[in-house]
Amino acid sequence: MASLTIRKLDEALKKRLRLRAARNGRSVEEELRHILAEAAGRPEAADAPSPPIQPAAIAHPAPAPARTLPNARILLVIGGGIAAYKSLDLIRRLRERGADVRCVLTRAGEEFVTKLAAGALANAVFTDLFDPQSEFDVGHIRLAREADLIVVAPATADLMAKMAGGHADDLATAVLLAADSPILLAPAMNPHMWSRAATRRNVAQLAADGIAFVGPNAGEMAERGEAGVGRMAEPLEIVAAVEAMLAPAERPLARKRVLVTSGPTHEAIDPVRFIGNRSSGRQGHAIAEAAARAGADVVLVSGPVALADPPGVSVVKVESAREMLNAVEAALPADVAIFAAAVADWRVAEAGRQKLKKGEGGPPTFAMVENPDILATVAHRKAKRPKLVIGFAAETTNVIANAKDKLKRKGCDWILANDVSPQAGVFGGDENTIHLVTSGGVESWPTQTKDEVASTLIARIADKLGAGP
Ligand code: C5P
Repeated sequence: MASLTIRKLDEALKKRLRLRAARNGRSVEEELRHILAEAAGRPEAADAPSPPIQPAAIAHPAPAPARTLPNARILLVIGGGIAAYKSLDLIRRLRERGADVRCVLTRAGEEFVTKLAAGALANAVFTDLFDPQSEFDVGHIRLAREADLIVVAPATADLMAKMAGGHADDLATAVLLAADSPILLAPAMNPHMWSRAATRRNVAQLAADGIAFVGPNAGEMAERGEAGVGRMAEPLEIVAAVEAMLAPAERPLARKRVLVTSGPTHEAIDPVRFIGNRSSGRQGHAIAEAAARAGADVVLVSGPVALADPPGVSVVKVESAREMLNAVEAALPADVAIFAAAVADWRVAEAGRQKLKKGEGGPPTFAMVENPDILATVAHRKAKRPKLVIGFAAETTNVIANAKDKLKRKGCDWILANDVSPQAGVFGGDENTIHLVTSGGVESWPTQTKDEVASTLIARIADKLGAGP
């Protein structure tokens, strides 16, 4: 009956039916039976054992894999071998697990997969050492440095020989030589090439240089009748090696959600004027970036700053304190909230709708009202309060005493106190001297760059979260 009915359906309906069946993991006939039973008010009948039918044309959609590599920055070098087609699948598998994948195609690699195909799957793709555009955009040094791990798949005999000899005559080899991140090779070549003395020497040299390998496996080769060791490891084996190398210890905030505020707020006086402050946002942005590097899912709520968005972070841009509070509340729940923004304490009670004019009455006076305290509001929440709420105390006098007082008043768990008197050069500067004030006491950190402060803070947060509730 079902197949008879299907034949009578028009093409558009058939297409919708097939889509619905695929979504529900049923065969087309099963789906149709389900619809008819639903229409008859007996959906349970649809689940009754069905007479034997053709095997389902469309398989069950596989469940999405766990995000085991959140924000991991992986640079995938695709060398020139027939196994390169598997590297396209590898990109997809890595991205499904939350990784950010940039690709470098060697010239030989481009013979096997196109830049278009790799670019459609990866976050970015690069091919040429001497392409001015990509050198200006990223540059081979940044490409090398901005990776948590470099994977070479397929790693051909030629590419490995160049790496072992320290060559750097194309983008892939230049990046590999400039890299200070770990490197994983997935060799793929004909078994004779793999067993040759030269390849053996190169593999031994690369292993001695600290480079890791996955595969090659034994099996059939692309060349008819050839078999032996030389097949590239399967994409999921390479993924497992990547997961093992990016050990949890290096991604201590994996699966944690971190909320950061950063920058100043601008409080309008009229459509063209505002009250602001000298916060550059560098400390808050550095914290968001360090949290993302540690594997966290990061939302950065930023006031107006002249900084690039940190990689791997969701940025919400706001102007005023009230907008910042709304964005922060919308971003909850979070495991950790770090309030590094320099929020204006007051705003003009009624900002002019039109630009205020210089008049005969002399300069205007403004009634001011207090802005919401975002840190205190979140710290005092009953529902959705992050486990760890951290504030900054920018002080010009009595730094530690004021910070202790602030810790109590605001209800937060930690305060990072710093001296922002003009001689300390913190606002807009590169360095920061922090005192971490908690209910347990005060810990004074040495003067560090803002990036170092961010890394120290993230390590302390990871310790705290790892130590249990
Ligand atoms: O009160 P004070 O501005 O010194 O407190 C600083 C801390 O409070 C910082 O963490 C800052 O981000 C936060 N704060 C806030 N909302 C305000 C004022 C300050 O979140 N309106």
